[in-house]
Amino acid sequence: DDDRTVTLVEVGPRDGLQNEKAVIATQDKLALIERLADAGLTRIEATAFVSPKWVPQMADHDAVMRGARRRPGLTLSALVPNEKGAVAAIAAGAQELAVFASASESFARENTNCTIAESIERFGPVLALARTHRLPVRGYVSCAVDCPYEGPIAPAMVRAVAERLLDIGCAEIAVADTIGRGTPERVDAMLADVIEAVPIGRLACHFHDTSGQALANIDVALGHGIRIVDSAIGGLGGCPYAPGAAGNVATERVVAHLASLRYDTGVDPDKLAVARAFASGLKTAK
Ligand code: HMG
Ligand code: MG
Repeated sequence: DDDRTVTLVEVGPRDGLQNEKAVIATQDKLALIERLADAGLTRIEATAFVSPKWVPQMADHDAVMRGARRRPGLTLSALVPNEKGAVAAIAAGAQELAVFASASESFARENTNCTIAESIERFGPVLALARTHRLPVRGYVSCAVDCPYEGPIAPAMVRAVAERLLDIGCAEIAVADTIGRGTPERVDAMLADVIEAVPIGRLACHFHDTSGQALANIDVALGHGIRIVDSAIGGLGGCPYAPGAAGNVATERVVAHLASLRYDTGVDPDKLAVARAFASGLKTAK
């Protein structure tokens, strides 16, 4: 039954590792991706083609994207902020691109050094390239609940940015609780508004778990009909430009939680535990 099927988007290798202080070897990143795919994850955000001056941990994006093993049924995606990133990601064999906008002007400035409108203008050439190469593009809306600099964000703002991302050709919208302070009530209000503009099958939720509310927020998203959920193995991560943000909700917790609710993720918990152990080894090898 399709309604009981949830697709997980594993963002650990990108959102998780981008925030690690220790330098993690490219080979270890590749080994992590391999174990995640072994566990049955079908969508993995492998790296980010962003400026190495801004995010040193993603400086090996080329080697990661080229080195990750392709498998039938697996989509390896790359986060890109602009045309330069898209050109490099496509050359390295990315199978999906992800662009990131914000529902907060202050966060857009801190994270991408431009306004929301300017960031979306930069996505025009990214979408054009993706069309030429027949690649889907996901559009993130950061600060969909709270901004680390501005506080609570109006749902209408989130919806407006989501609409712009659909207008320019994004196939999917991921609403992101960047700093993980969203409560189920506020997430519910945000999603109720966004769903007016984004077809439900094209909407994903991306929760960081700073306040321990991520699973409750996923329940709210499921209640709205969302069936695409982001997570990071071991709860790795945070955003270097979102002070105080903890990691993404842990993939192994999401898999167990969804299984308890009788949703099918296609992920093998035992093989996921192997990936998790490997990821926590990376984190402690400092
Ligand atoms: P800028 O400094 O304003 O841009 O950065 P610029 O165009 O003036 O370029 C500056 C330098 O960066 C130049 O090099 C460019 O060539 C280079 P230089 O001439 O100084 O040697 N550059 C690049 N290098 C590699 N790849 C590129 C690229 N573009 C320019 N694509 C820019 C603007 C957007 C590039 C910068 O601000 C940036 O890279 N920001 C990325 C920040 C980031 O990665 N944040 C974390 C990811 S977002 C996130 O975590 C949120 C999310 O998880 C959802 C959520 O939870 O909210 C997605
Ligand atoms: Mg994130």
